[in-house]
Amino acid sequence: VDREQGQLLDLHDKAAQLYHHILLNTPAGEPARRYLQKRGMSRDLIEKFGIGFAPVQRILTPYCAQQKLDYQLMRKSGLFTEDRDGKLQDRFVERVMFPIRNAQGKVIAFSGRLLNTAQTDLPKYLNSPETPIFNKRRTLFNLDLAKKAARDDGRLYLFEGFMDVISAFGAGVENGIASMGTSFTSEQVQIINRTTKQLDICYDGDSAGQNAIDRAISLVQDHQNGHLNVQVVQLPAGVDPDEYVQQNGAAKFREYVHDQEETTTDFYLRFLRNGRNLNNQQELMTYLDAVLKEIARLDTPLAQDMYLSKLADEFKLDKAALQGQLRQFQGELH
Ligand code: UTP
Ligand code: MN
Ligand code: MN
Ligand code: MN
Ligand code: MN
Repeated sequence: VDREQGQLLDLHDKAAQLYHHILLNTPAGEPARRYLQKRGMSRDLIEKFGIGFAPVQRILTPYCAQQKLDYQLMRKSGLFTEDRDGKLQDRFVERVMFPIRNAQGKVIAFSGRLLNTAQTDLPKYLNSPETPIFNKRRTLFNLDLAKKAARDDGRLYLFEGFMDVISAFGAGVENGIASMGTSFTSEQVQIINRTTKQLDICYDGDSAGQNAIDRAISLVQDHQNGHLNVQVVQLPAGVDPDEYVQQNGAAKFREYVHDQEETTTDFYLRFLRNGRNLNNQQELMTYLDAVLKEIARLDTPLAQDMYLSKLADEFKLDKAALQGQLRQFQGELH
């Protein structure tokens, strides 16, 4: 950490304290307090994650002026926007503020959520831009706390959003992380790979979530150098992890992520059916090809055999024929 990075970390620490104070202790924080209460967020979680509020009245610019903070430092922090004359103004306005911490637990950026997304073109979540202390591709939300919990549980859960990580944490699943709004990256896979042996992908239960699971699995398979086992926890249609916790409670959520954990092959057996009519001979063949390619990736003959039996049973096919096809795909892999 060089001198400038140290100063940027200090500024983020101070900003997080200010936003947090405004949320908890001021009249300006009232709408955000009500919002978080409505979403079922406990005081404990607000404290644990240092959640705050950036009010309409800008607060960071006057604070920095009062502290006589260096203009260039302020510019580089990403906490301000710059108008045409170079004048700086608070970037985050009227947003619930989620501090983003690095692996050492230091605040390096923020994501701010609107209280109300109706009738606005503004993005629901606004994230800090890249700065000397914030590299989005290498950052995983909550990694500092999650890696401790992962030592006991032997795995990390990958969620889509900040609220999912926080609600899961409140429900006792403390080993949850999320990528930074942007999609999951190869850098993040490598960091996970150095942290744990198993990753459970638990994205939202909608079609966007399913497609993202497919992309995440491929990314892990391409970048994990054989050490990281990926599994999937597919949520019921239409809910995300946060909503599941709010609707069903902590115990049911813990039970769900535990019981519904499945292999990537089981995920693909289901996922690859989407949009295909398997009563149609041609579409069934395409499906079987795609599924056999996934089965060919497995390195245990027993698991392969199990899936072949499953397919032979369901579609009344000759298992030996499936086996022959599988061998062909395996040859292509090597
Ligand atoms: P979602 O739309 O699933 O949001 O996007 P969410 O996490 O459920 O948020 P709530 O419950 O409405 O508050 C998943 C993630 O995509 C990123 C955020 O990281 C979000 O958590 N995202 C979404 C953005 O970065 N910007 C956006 O405008 C929307
Ligand atoms: Mn989503
Ligand atoms: Mn694939
Ligand atoms: Mn969601
Ligand atoms: Mn949500």
